[in-house]
Amino acid sequence: MPKREYDVIILGAGAAGLMCAISAGQRGRRVLLLDHAAEAGAKILISGGGRCNFTNTGTVPERFLSDNPHFCRSALSRYQPADFVAMVRRHGIGFHEKTLGQLFCDGSARQIVAMLLAECAAAGVELRLGHRVTDLARSEVFRVETDQGAFAAGSLVLATGGLSIPKLGATGFAHDAARRFGLRLTDIRPGLVPLTFADDLLALMRPLSGVSLNSEVTIGRQTFREAMLFTHRGLSGPAILQISSYWRQGPIAMKLLPGIDAAAFLLDRKRTRPKAALGSVLAEVLPARLAAAFAVESDAVRLADVPDRVLAALAARLSAWVVRPSGTEGYAKAEVTRGGVDTRDLSSRTLAAAGVPGLFVIGEAVDVTGWLGGYNFQWAWASGWCAGEAV
Ligand code: FDA
Repeated sequence: MPKREYDVIILGAGAAGLMCAISAGQRGRRVLLLDHAAEAGAKILISGGGRCNFTNTGTVPERFLSDNPHFCRSALSRYQPADFVAMVRRHGIGFHEKTLGQLFCDGSARQIVAMLLAECAAAGVELRLGHRVTDLARSEVFRVETDQGAFAAGSLVLATGGLSIPKLGATGFAHDAARRFGLRLTDIRPGLVPLTFADDLLALMRPLSGVSLNSEVTIGRQTFREAMLFTHRGLSGPAILQISSYWRQGPIAMKLLPGIDAAAFLLDRKRTRPKAALGSVLAEVLPARLAAAFAVESDAVRLADVPDRVLAALAARLSAWVVRPSGTEGYAKAEVTRGGVDTRDLSSRTLAAAGVPGLFVIGEAVDVTGWLGGYNFQWAWASGWCAGEAV
């Protein structure tokens, strides 16, 4: 016999599950929010370097990736960044815009989790942590078996997120459960993740580990102009994390001097500083270690002795350095999971599963992945809120 019956059971007390619980609870639903972790919102706590980049004021559907790019439109328009900001203000949490519309807490991400838990409590949500789900079944109602008893409800929300950062408790639970209920999955892979390189490229990059610079990184028609960072395994930093969500196997092109005409710059310096070394001229516009690495293209001591064709080749490389990653650092380092439950099997308005009355899938478990910069939390809030309005 089930221990207790509810209107809705939400599996996963992360960003999406907490928001769903709040909106369902505020509608007077009897809500059980279940998680296997000892603490709710673990990823919120470590997000944004501990300050939680909780939304982005520039949220538009074009900043999300999905096999169906239009799917996120409805939820994002129904629950907007301003709605979340209003809640943050109501709770007196200080915040600031860092860059590119990214809103961060002045204090700590802990304030966001405390706010969500306070809203859950006010809405009468029952929160149970440290519960391991052992079985899920559906007959007239959904029945959730856990290591601490059984629970039943007319609606079930899968909000257990994606596969990124397993050491924080991430599992493929939502994907497996969705599949068991007959929903399709898209291709799944790490997103917002550092890229790795092999052979000569790694030999070049590894000694540059720690060097960071502004760059423009491109795959096809997608370009990001942000900082990039050399690591001991390859490349990271915001521009690389952003492009990684678009990467599958091919090359990426990097402009290391965005906004500067590299060919004109080098030819100008050859004319005006002929006795200077190539490395010291490059160091005017690049970090010194990177400048030194690129200066080995010529063994001439003075710029005046470097042939124009060598400068032209160097300028071309600085303007579009085309490199092929060997892979990514995987789910252990990925901020998100690219792909998930196929949106063809979900309602874009309510996140309800087609063909399984009462079942909902929200947050990162769905095939909707935002850019870096607060977009993924906005998707979690919006999809959670919309499902909470419908359960
Ligand atoms: P989320 O992962 O938040 O929650 C899932 C919950 O389900 C967890 O509480 C987990 O314990 C639980 N769970 C998993 N398996 C279970 C099981 N089998 N049984 C029961 N419970 C289970 N985004 C952003 O917009 N701004 C930012 O600043 C950052 N920063 C950031 C930093 C780092 C290091 C990471 C890894 C990620 C980010 N993100 C981010 C991304 C953001 O954290 C992510 O998109 C959202 O947390 C997704 O919300 P969900 O609720 O879908 O999953």
